[in-house]
Amino acid sequence: MAQQRLQLTWFNKDKALIPTETGKYGYTWVDPSDPRYCETHALVMDDYVHGVQTPKSDEFAYSERADLAPQDDNLMILGESGDVLEALTRVPELAEKYVGKVKLIYIDPPFNTAQTFASYEDNLEHSIWLTMMRDRLLNMKRLLAADGSIWVHLDQVEVHRMRLLLDETFGADCFVTEVIWGKADTSRNDAKQFSVDQDYLCVYSKRPEWGVNRLLRTAAQDSIYKNPDGDRVPWIAKPGHAPGAATHQGMVYAIQSPFTGELLYPPKGGCWRLGQDAMLDGLNGWARYERRILDDAQERAFVCGVSAEDVRPDVSALVLSDDIHVARRHAERALESPWPSVFFINRGKRIQVKGYLPEGGTTPRTIWSFSDVGSNRNSKAEIKRLFPDSDAFSTPKPERLLERIIHIGSNPGDIVLDVFAGSGTTAAVAQKMGRRWVTCELLESTFTTFTRPRLEKVVNDEDPGGITRTKGERIPADDVDLPEGVSAEDAAIFTSVLNKLIADDPALKKSADVKTLKAAAKTRRTKDVVNWRGGGGFQVAHLSPACFDYDPDLDRVMLTAEATGETLVESVAANLGFRLLHPDDDYIFDAQRGNSLLKVIDGVATIEIVDSLVSHVTPGETIVLAATSVMDGVREHLRRSCRGSRVVALPDDVFHYTEDGETR
Ligand SMILES: C[S@@+](CC[C@H](N)C(=O)[O-])C[C@H]1O[C@@H](n2cnc3c(N)ncnc32)[C@H](O)[C@@H]1O
Repeated sequence: MAQQRLQLTWFNKDKALIPTETGKYGYTWVDPSDPRYCETHALVMDDYVHGVQTPKSDEFAYSERADLAPQDDNLMILGESGDVLEALTRVPELAEKYVGKVKLIYIDPPFNTAQTFASYEDNLEHSIWLTMMRDRLLNMKRLLAADGSIWVHLDQVEVHRMRLLLDETFGADCFVTEVIWGKADTSRNDAKQFSVDQDYLCVYSKRPEWGVNRLLRTAAQDSIYKNPDGDRVPWIAKPGHAPGAATHQGMVYAIQSPFTGELLYPPKGGCWRLGQDAMLDGLNGWARYERRILDDAQERAFVCGVSAEDVRPDVSALVLSDDIHVARRHAERALESPWPSVFFINRGKRIQVKGYLPEGGTTPRTIWSFSDVGSNRNSKAEIKRLFPDSDAFSTPKPERLLERIIHIGSNPGDIVLDVFAGSGTTAAVAQKMGRRWVTCELLESTFTTFTRPRLEKVVNDEDPGGITRTKGERIPADDVDLPEGVSAEDAAIFTSVLNKLIADDPALKKSADVKTLKAAAKTRRTKDVVNWRGGGGFQVAHLSPACFDYDPDLDRVMLTAEATGETLVESVAANLGFRLLHPDDDYIFDAQRGNSLLKVIDGVATIEIVDSLVSHVTPGETIVLAATSVMDGVREHLRRSCRGSRVVALPDDVFHYTEDGETR
């Protein structure tokens, strides 16, 4: 953990937790050296689910996302997050693929709200909860890529403790922000004190210099930018002035209009919006201008709200270099091509500047409203729509919320991880956005009722909800120019209210003024857009059963009933850090690490077995022989016959094994 002065302490902080019962929500304190805590579970691969992509049809419009290659390198695990994370970080085949490679982690763990939800119990003591979270965060940090981020979703109950824990794990300098998600679209009047409307997303990065993907602009946001003069980019008109005359007296001066010859000043209290060089640059597109000191202290003093004696003396005006007739001819000609960035309205009596459509999207803000990213009610409706016949999952999150998180923190092809899958929202949205994903869920009932079937629907394009389609946006009708600050939604509301007001008045309905108003506020919706068409697939897996048990009273490690055959081989390989070999059937060794070869024997290791193994190694290779029973003299015989080789007695030696041959 990162060293820092301020730290949260809690009961049993130096202890570890193991699940009290497999597949249930409950933990038991143990010493961190307890073999039940130290055991690495391998993954047992079950079936692979293949999806089918639906071809495009003329019926819909398609976003660019609908053309992304659907990902098929995804992993869904039934199992406890602590054990899953151990597997992902320690089983060599998995560690190679995931350690330092995960771009985005989103977790929505049990909130510790002392309630019992329909799907799981959420009533752990703070200290159990903190220890549980700490152990998982440490492994998640190992998985996170150098340019990755982690998003921890919580409500107000534990968020303050989690912030300190995250500071401790990731370093306070890697704190990025805390996003507030306004999850409630209505108030809860049955709440005793406050109706709590928000959840929190604690965002941390692996490195302090982490950068975000900016949010894409919407058609509605873009629709206010117009291009009446055929400029290279659409623009909106901004006032030519801004507040601040008193403090920016150097930006308060006369500009001569090339249409009227009149001297124009900013209104009282205002200064020109751009620096004088930029103003001059824009004005030179209309006519030839020059800087000149005028005798206009009175006028400038009036604008600045000071006396003529106090106004800055040396501020030059921008005046025409040519006679007004020449200037006007130039200016009228300039009206026929794209206008300069500073331009005149009201027959040359007022100045405005162009604000061009920004490139590269918008910077994400830290308060996210349910109207932008969905509410709790929306997410429940999404799940109900997918599973109309099941009792609703209690705590799903809206797809649009995950869409925004995944957009900000990852790119297509990146790996997204969520180890508290629930109904599988993170994986579903990641798949729809062309990301790879890994997810796990503790409860078999949740896994088989929601997580897996939901993702099956996603890859088979049987899930039209959530972010699969985007409803067309409301934008102004083609020939409509809405006034600044009025959105298309405002205009639609205006028209609807107007219609209601004149509903019973036939004369007003026919009135030319009403018709003009309606035409000026006319809007339309863009077509619905398909973002996801199915495809890709995912590997389903579960954790291998525990092979090692421990009796603290006797201080004895024992093999469990499941520790036989392939299960034992895979477990020993995982716990000793060996990569499984899948050679021809007659290949004698089970696994390999560097030049060391592992043989696991569910039985007695004899001198004959050692001789046979030694006859199969080439010079430079060593043998690790793991066996449940070891005959006298076998250890020495192996050591003598093949230098650097050794015997691991199962189960006792597994948790004392180190790569260099010393015991731990
Ligand atoms: C708040 S829900 C997550 C909801 C999810 N974000 C969604 O949109 O559906 C937390 C989930 O974590 C699961 N869970 C709790 N403890 C777990 C653990 N130790 N390992 C894995 N999953 C766990 C619960 O069963 C529950 O499904």
